[in-house]
Amino acid sequence: MDAKATARPETGARRRPHVVDGVQRLDMRYSTALPREYYVSKDIYEKEVDKIFSRQWTFVGHVSELPKIGDYFIQEFAGESVVVVREAADKINGYLNVCRHRGHSLCAAPRGNIRKFVCPYHYWSYGLDGALKNAPGAPDGAVFNYQDWPLHRVGIEDFQGFLFAYFGTDEAPRLGEKFAAARGELERLNTPALKEIHRESYELNCNWKTLLENYLECYHCQGSHQTLCKTMDLEAMYAGTDEWQDPYFTGPVPLRPGLKTVSLNGEIVSRPLGAFASVVDLPTGYGSGFGVVPTLTRGIVHIDHAVVHALRPIDVGRVRWETRWYVRDDAVEGVDYDRENVIAVWTATNKEDIALCENAYRGVRSRRFRPGPLDNKRESAIPPALTTYLEMMAAE
Ligand code: FES
Ligand SMILES: [Fe+2]
Repeated sequence: MDAKATARPETGARRRPHVVDGVQRLDMRYSTALPREYYVSKDIYEKEVDKIFSRQWTFVGHVSELPKIGDYFIQEFAGESVVVVREAADKINGYLNVCRHRGHSLCAAPRGNIRKFVCPYHYWSYGLDGALKNAPGAPDGAVFNYQDWPLHRVGIEDFQGFLFAYFGTDEAPRLGEKFAAARGELERLNTPALKEIHRESYELNCNWKTLLENYLECYHCQGSHQTLCKTMDLEAMYAGTDEWQDPYFTGPVPLRPGLKTVSLNGEIVSRPLGAFASVVDLPTGYGSGFGVVPTLTRGIVHIDHAVVHALRPIDVGRVRWETRWYVRDDAVEGVDYDRENVIAVWTATNKEDIALCENAYRGVRSRRFRPGPLDNKRESAIPPALTTYLEMMAAE
């Protein structure tokens, strides 16, 4: 085993205070989730769109989806639609899927290849660089200057092949620096050279923070996730989530001793990634990953496959949960991997979590609901995530 790969940073000194309603609760015996109104108030949700969803990077796709110039895909997120398009071999851009004339969407198909954007309403056209090229009946400079009406840009960053979008108009944090601790492992696993083999998307009837909190704790795993717990090391996971103190974090899903990956039996389910392709004696417990909270993105990269989860808020009581699975790009289905086998664990786990989240949210909506004490060990990632959330909500 590569000891460095599984080494964890110190946590004690990094623990952040849990602040609720302005009260520091670090020295109290327990923390709680947020007051009920944070989960049911439409006004608070609207504020979250500006203060939270527009101020963090969120996962949107993988470079393998855009091999050719002009390839694009669309991603819906918190009421916005972004078109992610390859302008050049080394350049991927993001734009709101919104025409500058009167707002019609530019692309209807979820993915495709284009030479330029042509709005189907009045046929304004834009280049892959977002510049307005033609407005029928209004030559450049005659009525207005085209340079004043480019597409609205959305920040796109490629972190080791995983594409993230930033919807805010302020300066975005540098994602590569935030995830720097995972770079070496992901280079070794050559994550740009992956391909997506499956995605799942569920719409849940719950507040997005109910889903976030559920993902951040493994208090419920032993009772509800028997399939996942065959390979995930629960005690190490408690310690692992304890380390998710920062809005941008890195680290693997810890495996039970002697296992190679998260699968039904801990054995690999596809050809090993990157530098491990020709390794005969594969290490156990090797892995990496990255995450963002509170706008939850979680990427998990094992020695043989990768999984990315991402949360897509829809409304105060609705959220979409997406999971995508990746294997190395030259792996052959039926030879190197069996798709059902690769997706088995998280497909089962997602279904279990959906039922838990929707049921919990029904209770949170009760007018007499008050958040109860959190388990200091098994739910230790919730307080720092909610503290980050409150800090972001309070920020200018
Ligand atoms: S709304 Fe796009 S051209 Fe009019
Ligand atoms: Fe769960």
